[in-house]
Amino acid sequence: MIGEKIVSFETINSTNRFLMENHTNYPDGTVVVALKQTSGYGRNKRIWYSPKGGLWFSVLFKPRKQIEPSFYTRLFSVSVVRTLEKFKIHVNIKWPNDIYLYGRKLAGVLSEGIFEGKKPVAIVVGVGINVNNDIPEELKTQAISLKEIMNKEFSLMKLLEMILKNARILLRKYTKKKEALTRIWKRYLIQKEGDILHLREGGQEKLGRIVKITSDYLLIEIDGEIKKIYSIFPH
Ligand code: BTN
Repeated sequence: MIGEKIVSFETINSTNRFLMENHTNYPDGTVVVALKQTSGYGRNKRIWYSPKGGLWFSVLFKPRKQIEPSFYTRLFSVSVVRTLEKFKIHVNIKWPNDIYLYGRKLAGVLSEGIFEGKKPVAIVVGVGINVNNDIPEELKTQAISLKEIMNKEFSLMKLLEMILKNARILLRKYTKKKEALTRIWKRYLIQKEGDILHLREGGQEKLGRIVKITSDYLLIEIDGEIKKIYSIFPH
């Protein structure tokens, strides 16, 4: 069960890295949480700034069946959105895994897997939320924290418990109905099918129309051609 075992650190390099390296020693559902990460990372190995005050945790899954890591990304993205709704904070998801508030990034979810052939042996889902931490000056136009908008500090452990509880509920409900979870996740997305996006292609800015949104890529019509894209600018 998610959160049956919780391992806490004051400082760690990265909770994702810890579980990726030590998954054989821990059971399914183990949560690793740290007050501070020294080498937190996000999608495409971008640095994830993780000082004291934020909520930084990862969850280990050992699925018995073939299941895509992106299912867990959606699960935790929706869980975070629903948890924040309890505080009347209404956030959106910027495709595929960023939680946005007032046009700035509040949180991110990163799933990674270890596979034997096509079968996942371990999936690690990392969640990072700017909660009580100050956002450095150079990131202030791009990132936001809960403290900044609510003018108060949050209990990190309470928030963690709520997110894990919502994740357990969603997992029970949607493991056998994955498309239903995808539909919910799509409702929270900022991007909708049919929207026009500004894109960079070969150093040029172009306009593209979203033809289809999937969890792994977007199908975009650019200059009359349909292309798959895996990330959108700005990040
Ligand atoms: C992203 O937006 O690209 C995803 C960011 C995920 C950050 C979290 S913080 C806890 C866990 N440990 C990491 O090193 N990364 C994830």
